[in-house]
Amino acid sequence: MNHTHPYRSAVATESGASPALIVLSTLLVLAIVTALSAAFSSREPARTVSAENGRYLVEKVGMCWDCHSPRDDQGNIIPERWLQGAPLPFQPTIPMPWAPVSKHIANLPTLTDEQALEFFTKGTLPGGRQPLPPMPGYRFSEADAKDLIAYLRNPIAPPKTGP
Ligand code: HEC
Repeated sequence: MNHTHPYRSAVATESGASPALIVLSTLLVLAIVTALSAAFSSREPARTVSAENGRYLVEKVGMCWDCHSPRDDQGNIIPERWLQGAPLPFQPTIPMPWAPVSKHIANLPTLTDEQALEFFTKGTLPGGRQPLPPMPGYRFSEADAKDLIAYLRNPIAPPKTGP
């Protein structure tokens, strides 16, 4: 039998696939590969640790400096002692567990990066300890906690009028 299928004759020569068909299918494969790799890379975007975001979290969101920075007798922060721990100027009105002094957190001298990550994401200090009030048990995202740590390892003091 020498029957030629009408559709096949439109796209293919007797010797095989037409050049146009090969080009089209190559383009289709490329398009699929490109779409797939875009889908995978957007699922896990590359992210670099940002000390600048850490600074924003310390200065504007967590307000860490408000409790952790010593002040002069006018109530201005002392830039040379930025985040070095301070007596708190307030206390609870009812008896409760309480730390009257905050800790030195500039350069995070008491915690490794792993311990700080655990503390800032789960609120737990080494040995499963909880900080005493009024230190909040923050639950930062892992990305924000890493940014915080990067900033705290190398904090930048603002002017004495505060951040
Ligand atoms: C309302 C006041 C207050 C704020 C706001 C605050 N802290 Fe504290 N922080 C404290 C006090 C008080 C302690 C001491 C708690 C204790 O002795 O158990 C403390 C303890 C800590 C410790 C534990 C150090 C150690 O080794 O025991 C770290 C780290 C810390 N704070 C980081 C931060 C960061 C980072 C922020 C902001 C994101 C912050 N704090 C905001 C009051 C505060």
